[in-house]
Amino acid sequence: MTKIYVLNGPNLNMLGAREPEIYGTMNLSDIEAKLRQQAPEVELVFGQTNSEDELIGWLQAAFNDSADVILNPAAFTHYSYALRDACAMLKGRSRLIEVHISNPHSREEFRHNSVISGVATGVIAGFGVDSYLLALQQLTRN
Ligand code: DQA
Repeated sequence: MTKIYVLNGPNLNMLGAREPEIYGTMNLSDIEAKLRQQAPEVELVFGQTNSEDELIGWLQAAFNDSADVILNPAAFTHYSYALRDACAMLKGRSRLIEVHISNPHSREEFRHNSVISGVATGVIAGFGVDSYLLALQQLTRN
């Protein structure tokens, strides 16, 4: 069974309650359920953490499994070189899609830079929860 990691960074555990005008009203469990429904043939390893340490550990597990990753790095997107290095490790081994619910480029200036995009296979941003579903669709295309 194909394994795909769906990893979420800080504050995404608050989805549904957190700034709903930006992030919508769906919570992370709703997103997980939608992803599982879309690809029942895939073993989804779903995780959220507020800890950089834990997120890096999961990326290393994906590396060891040679598994593709859907990653919403949340605020780590904009400054975590440690997370970038973990993502860079996957290059040439498995695919990593960076996803964002909002479109960071249409928001505050500090969100315009991603230290992750340069080592991601692709980036999907601004489609709300569908950003995750589109990423999964792409990874399960062939
Ligand atoms: C986010 C965008 C980031 O700038 C922000 O820090 C988040 C969520 C998004 O999904 O739109 O926490 O990654």
